[in-house]
Amino acid sequence: MNRRTLPSLLGLIALLMPMLLWAAPQQLILSHVVSPDTPKGKMAEMFKSIIEKKLGDRYEIIIHSNASLMDDDEAVTAIAEGRIHFAAPSLSKFESYTQQLKVFDLPFLFPDMNAVNRFQKSPTGQALLSSMESQGILGLGYLHNGLKQLTADRPFTRPEDLAGLRFRTMNSDVLIKQFELLNAEAVPMAFSKVYESLANRSIQGQENTWSNIFSQAFYDHQPYMMISNHGVLDYMLITNSEFWSGLSEEERRSFRFALEMSLKYGNAVAKAKSANDKIELGRMKGVSVYEPSADELTVWQTAMQPLWASYEGLIGEKVIQAAQQAGRP
Ligand code: LMR
Repeated sequence: MNRRTLPSLLGLIALLMPMLLWAAPQQLILSHVVSPDTPKGKMAEMFKSIIEKKLGDRYEIIIHSNASLMDDDEAVTAIAEGRIHFAAPSLSKFESYTQQLKVFDLPFLFPDMNAVNRFQKSPTGQALLSSMESQGILGLGYLHNGLKQLTADRPFTRPEDLAGLRFRTMNSDVLIKQFELLNAEAVPMAFSKVYESLANRSIQGQENTWSNIFSQAFYDHQPYMMISNHGVLDYMLITNSEFWSGLSEEERRSFRFALEMSLKYGNAVAKAKSANDKIELGRMKGVSVYEPSADELTVWQTAMQPLWASYEGLIGEKVIQAAQQAGRP
């Protein structure tokens, strides 16, 4: 190198220095299975916007909606293994990791969403957030969707009307047994497969919240619905434990702030959507929404409730009692 090229080389390095020092923000993956226009979709967008405002030089949140990256079962494993950073699967989708969350699947345990909310906020509900920590999954908070309703391709008002029908369930053995108690056939299936399975008639019914029934257009093939409110479909926002403990204290504070804001917002959206989508469905031509009387509902309760006793050992009596207590404020 001659004496003349050295200064120009140093000049070039000085010019490139800021670029060399600048590192692209780390991409954090948030995967979910519903549409952007749902409580979870809206929560995810708000979470992204707050984090990128606060820590945008360090992190970028990449949202994959509609199961475009993976289904929930895989997302739970991917979180445990640290392959993705955030997900918010339904509370029914953790059975390979903990038995305690099955409490949320017990039919007719929660009379309304206020009871669900109270239980989630109770010491027992909060302790469940860390029940999978040793397996790499840390719960950061709960997100509501709402109470589940039954839908089918034919009219039904009594449990025996469902006998012999194939009902899609989430992959949870409580939910599978719930349909078996009704003498229906339970077909566990990923959410992303439900619409096509209803369309090709390989299943004849399903259970879900008003917002999922509406946003996925299940009504196209499920014109008969019952206001059963028989179970709850809520979510746990989860992250990988190691990723979380590797963040600095200041970063964790920002993430906690973003979570608090976005979960609050998602919960407000859930409440509004549950009410609005129920009304929208009720107004649809060709859709029939049946409202059972209190006595009729008791018949459904009597058919499904034996499940409580058979899961008491697995879930834990104390957890079930705390959930029941939240229903009697
Ligand atoms: C389902 O599989 O029915 C739900 O968990 C989908 C969702 O995330 O709301």
